[in-house]
Amino acid sequence: MIIQSAGYKIFIADDPFGELRRFLRSRDYTSCFIICDENSMLHCLPILVTACPALSSAGIIETESGEQNKTLDIAAQVWQTMAENHADRKTLVVNLGGGVITDLGGFCASVYKRGVDFINIPTTLLGMVDASVGAKNGLDFLELKNLIGTFTEPEAVFISPVFLETLPYQHIMNGMAEVYKMALVSDKKFWKALSDDEHDNDPLKLITRNVKLKNEIVKKDPFDEGVRKALNFGHTIGHALESLYMGSENPLLHGEAVLHGMIIETRIANLKKLISVQGLEFEENEILGLLSNDKKTSGKTLRFSLINGIGSCSVDVNVSLAQIRSAMAYYRELLS
Ligand SMILES: NC(=O)c1ccc[n+]([C@@H]2O[C@H](COP(=O)([O-])OP(=O)(O)OC[C@H]3O[C@@H](n4cnc5c(N)ncnc54)[C@H](O)[C@@H]3O)[C@@H](O)[C@H]2O)c1
Repeated sequence: MIIQSAGYKIFIADDPFGELRRFLRSRDYTSCFIICDENSMLHCLPILVTACPALSSAGIIETESGEQNKTLDIAAQVWQTMAENHADRKTLVVNLGGGVITDLGGFCASVYKRGVDFINIPTTLLGMVDASVGAKNGLDFLELKNLIGTFTEPEAVFISPVFLETLPYQHIMNGMAEVYKMALVSDKKFWKALSDDEHDNDPLKLITRNVKLKNEIVKKDPFDEGVRKALNFGHTIGHALESLYMGSENPLLHGEAVLHGMIIETRIANLKKLISVQGLEFEENEILGLLSNDKKTSGKTLRFSLINGIGSCSVDVNVSLAQIRSAMAYYRELLS
């Protein structure tokens, strides 16, 4: 399956590597660097290099895994390695990993020598259904999620579920959170299909359907100024939770934070009368403080993307602090 995005193609197949080989043959890159973490290096790099021997001469830049490494310090190490190895403007960066690697690697490539080409080869479910497509990249800064970043399109994205075979279950569920979100904000039929115990579990179909939905939204609003904000459902609260627990003994995975965020935000949607719907010991004030730093807030107004039914979403809904407190109280009650 080939999905056409604004300026690049997304190849989704059990074996998309023939397309990757064709891509590499068609370009005249002077050098190539593969950015990965220790897990994607161990489990995915051998598969990639076997399928695509031309990449065996690429430089390998290995970072430590985890959200705590999506930082300016690690980006500086990437740039340093590229500079020390004389990477010029005709260098290709290959991001091989989960959302942390595609966000970090995409950002590094987008500003190195004012921008070099990069491709994404996602190796987590979350990366495949969400982070690797849509041209957003970035870093966390001052413990705030994605505070620094650019909108830069990859040259291409190559998605193969083969990499999911080694992905721990917790990270499969992490990716499913974004799949549920996509269905909730844009496709009632998809949501119904996912809610059905007998639903088709074929990862290729699931990923393809999700990427198509995301791609349609991104094409209409590449810079997050309108309809794309629907994809932020669950993320305003979710990012605050993720920031709150970042660096703690029990950090929340992105998808886990988004799941909590979707439940709380659905309650807010209910309080706003957008939708009718028949613990976590978080620090309420800290979360409210973190919310005011979220990029989706504007001045002192807190703006949310809230579902107004299954399969549709309102963006830029003004929400009061009292409504947020009430939703968090509701959530604590649910958990207790
Ligand atoms: N740019 C976007 O549009 C966008 C969208 C959603 C999320 N994100 C970002 O994505 C990040 C989360 O991504 P993630 O959940 O993929 O996390 P991740 O990149 O940290 O990967 C999760 C874990 O899986 C390991 N791993 C990766 N591939 C593996 C494989 N095939 N087998 C075994 N282990 C493997 C990694 O080393 C890591 O430990 C967050 O930083 C989030 O902000 C970005």
